[in-house]
Amino acid sequence: MSDLRTIIEQLVRQTLQEMAPSSSDIKPMKAVSQTINSSHNYGKRLPLVAANWKMNQLSGSAKAFMREIQLKDRKNIQTLICAPHILLPVLAGEKKETDILLGAQNFYPEPSGAFTGEHSLDMLIDVGVQSVIIGHSERRNLFGETDELLAKKLAYAVDKKFLPIFCIGENLKERNDGSTFRVLQNQILTGFAGLKNPLPDPAMIVVAYEPIWAIGTGLTATAEQAQDAIAFVREKLADRFSWAYANSIRILYGGSANDKNAATLAAKPDIDGFLVGNASLNATTFASMIEQVAAVKRKVFAS
Ligand code: PGA
Repeated sequence: MSDLRTIIEQLVRQTLQEMAPSSSDIKPMKAVSQTINSSHNYGKRLPLVAANWKMNQLSGSAKAFMREIQLKDRKNIQTLICAPHILLPVLAGEKKETDILLGAQNFYPEPSGAFTGEHSLDMLIDVGVQSVIIGHSERRNLFGETDELLAKKLAYAVDKKFLPIFCIGENLKERNDGSTFRVLQNQILTGFAGLKNPLPDPAMIVVAYEPIWAIGTGLTATAEQAQDAIAFVREKLADRFSWAYANSIRILYGGSANDKNAATLAAKPDIDGFLVGNASLNATTFASMIEQVAAVKRKVFAS
C-alpha cells in the first residue's frame, strides 16, 4: 500500500511541477472584495473531484460504480471516492486504475486501542485507502466533533501521509448575519493549528468549502459566492503560511454541486474541484462532472 501512496504522491507532484509557476509568478492575491474574476495564479493546481457517498450504496452498486468510472476519461484530474468504511475493501477489490483514490469519511486519530466502533488510519491503509474527509459539517453537527478533535485528526492524517479533505463552512444564520468570513477564518486557524514543522506538502492537503445551507438542499452557492469565500480562505492560509504555500493547496467547493453547475463553478480561479454528495451517487453524473471540470481547467491552463 505504501508503494501505491508513493506513486500517488509522485503523480500529484509531477503533474503540479509541470503546471507550477516559477516562484516569481506567484503573486499575492488582491483583497477578498476584489478577487472575483481576478486572474492570479489561475488554475495551477491539479483539479480534484471527490465523491462523498455518506451513508449510501451497497456492495453491488459500489462495484458497478467503480467499473463505470474506470471507463471514463480522467486525464489531468484527480478522482476520489469517499465511501462508507465497509465498502472500501469492495471498491479496492474492483479498482484497477491507480489514478482513482479511495477515501474514508472518518477515522480516529490513535494507532489502536479501546475505541469501540472506530477505525484507525492503519486499518484504512491496510485496505487500500489513501484519503479521508475531516470535519464534514455532518460530523461536526450530528456527531459533535469539536475544532480541537478536528485539528488533531488533520495533524494525524498529514503525519501519516494521507490526503485529508478538511471541510469548513458557515450555516445559513451565519451567512445571513454577515459572519461567514469570521467563521471560515476560525475553522481554518483552529483546524490547521496542530500542523508541525516541517509543513506538509501543500499538494497533499485539501480544503473543502461547503456552506451548510447548500449541502443536500439543491441551493448551490453562486460561483461568485463560492469564489469569494474560497479566495478568502486562501488568503487566510497565506497569512498563516505563505502565498507560495497557499497557492499550492487545493480548495474544493461542496454543496449541491452537480453536472449542471460544475462547469460554471469550476471556471472560477480559486475553485479547484468539488466535494460531491448526492450527485456522486450516480456514476454517469459523477463522471460528467469529472470530464467538465477537467475540460474547464484544461482551457484555463492553456490560456
Ligand atoms: P451535496 O453534499 O452535494 O449532496 O450537497 C455535499 C457534501 O456534503 O459533501
